[in-house]
Amino acid sequence: MEIEEKLAELNKLREEAKAGGGPKRIEAQHAKGKLTARERIALLFDPGTFQEIDPFVIHRCTDFGMAETRFLGDSVVTGYGKVNNRLTFAFSQDFTVLGGSLSEVASQKICQVMDLSAMNGAPFVGILDSGGARIQEGADSLTAYGNIFTHNTLYSGTVPQISVIVGPTAGGAVYSPAITDFVFMVKGIGQSYITGSEVVKSVTGEEVTLEELGGALVNATKSGNAHFALDSEEECFRLVRKLLGFLPQSYKETPSVINTGDDPNRISEELLHIVPLEHTKPYNMRQIITKVVDNGDFLEVHGRFARNFVVGFARLGGRSIGILANQPMHLAGVLDIDASDKAARFVRTCDCFNIPLVTFVDVPGYMPGTDQEFRGIIRHGAKLLFAYSEATVPKVSIITRKAYGGAYVAMSSKSLRGDICYAWPTAEIAVMGPEGAVNIVFRNEISKSENPAETRQRLIQGYRDKFANPYVAAARGYIDDVIDPRTTRSKVIRALEMLQGKEVKNPPKKHGNIPL
Ligand code: HXC
Repeated sequence: MEIEEKLAELNKLREEAKAGGGPKRIEAQHAKGKLTARERIALLFDPGTFQEIDPFVIHRCTDFGMAETRFLGDSVVTGYGKVNNRLTFAFSQDFTVLGGSLSEVASQKICQVMDLSAMNGAPFVGILDSGGARIQEGADSLTAYGNIFTHNTLYSGTVPQISVIVGPTAGGAVYSPAITDFVFMVKGIGQSYITGSEVVKSVTGEEVTLEELGGALVNATKSGNAHFALDSEEECFRLVRKLLGFLPQSYKETPSVINTGDDPNRISEELLHIVPLEHTKPYNMRQIITKVVDNGDFLEVHGRFARNFVVGFARLGGRSIGILANQPMHLAGVLDIDASDKAARFVRTCDCFNIPLVTFVDVPGYMPGTDQEFRGIIRHGAKLLFAYSEATVPKVSIITRKAYGGAYVAMSSKSLRGDICYAWPTAEIAVMGPEGAVNIVFRNEISKSENPAETRQRLIQGYRDKFANPYVAAARGYIDDVIDPRTTRSKVIRALEMLQGKEVKNPPKKHGNIPL
């Protein structure tokens, strides 16, 4: 064969691989409102940078007529390219090939790019659209999943791992995304559940559609499995690219510093008027965050879940930071089970990738009640204490108003190795709110007085005068400074600059035992 003929054969095979399951199945994919695996790759990577690996891999199964049902590349496209001009690895499951089902070789392809991403210290994006384990391959395809979970786990904290769910993920298949750092889902097409509607109906009798059971919104809002729920695939991949921009390539790097053009010394007059003087009145903590960070650009993560707590990425002085904040607009910003889980996970995500933590505090305490106690607020709340204590990244906090009790301690306090704790003059640091404190400490005095209501009010005022300010805590050094709210931006930027060289090593151990 002449070289020209060999090249022609190569090109023919390459075209065949690119065609996936063929035009009819591609048409069916589009008819479902879904893009193909390769169209998704094109949205993720910088144009023309994607390099495919293993396009000629085929499965080895011969049962159930599978010897005649082979597709070049099998059911997944894998490779690497540039995102924002930085090396990134990806796999994209091809639903047009046997429903994107996971075969032994598909798993080998996926694990290979995961190995390459870890070896080369670059992030990894998995795009999921699959009917699950390849039924014809039996136990081989189950082992194939197990291998992926192991890779996800071993590389956790090594390189950022992102999952994009743009099709079905059912059964055990849901657990690869669940182990990764961030999960994106697209409404209407991304679905994730342990068992589908039919099984649910037969076991529990509940009637529920697949979208109600495991659609993007329900996973982003109720279960918290998804960090983002987007309207379209285009919007979704734009956001994946933006998120990657905040993250370093691996645990060995610090996040990039870029010139955002925002003056580090910018004063924000509005910050004087966001926190109401009435200490129970709600306000939107997001307004404070956006006034402080560079150009007001805040990428909220997990925004629909546990809305009493806000987490996300922004930049300060061009440097990427993780923000955590109580949200007084929802449940008065109380810490409950979901908020603790969300916050603890975010602290650890930032800590493994060297992203400093900036925490805004306005918290009345942990959520009381049998529901929370019985479901384990102690165990879940402990995660947040553990995560903040263990984290070695720079930790700066700003108390804007209430910081009561155990929740004050949990929110990046100095006793949990917070580096710099600032308070606004509106801050109140106490064991609990004045009303609760007076009811306990002065119970006898109130009940024995001639006018209990008046006595109670007088005692509340006395307690408030003493503790409803930041100066008692500042006098003991628990607060490093009480600052003019307008200067918050420059104060935090300077603190982070000062902490740039921070080096802390935790005591030697195999690994800590976070209360899961
Ligand atoms: C082999 C599969 C497949 C699978 C789909 N296909 N799932 N082939 N193994 N798991 C094939 C179909 O036969 C069909 O082939 C093509 O993919 C498209 O599937 P459709 O059913 O036509 O598509 P759609 O109507 O969109 O429905 C998608 C679906 C459905 C909801 C995902 O296919 C489905 O229910 N599949 C089975 C899901 C499942 O139970 N998987 C096993 C989960 S258990 P043709 O040739 O007709 O186009 C699991 C265990 C993991 O994953 C354990 C890890 C520890």
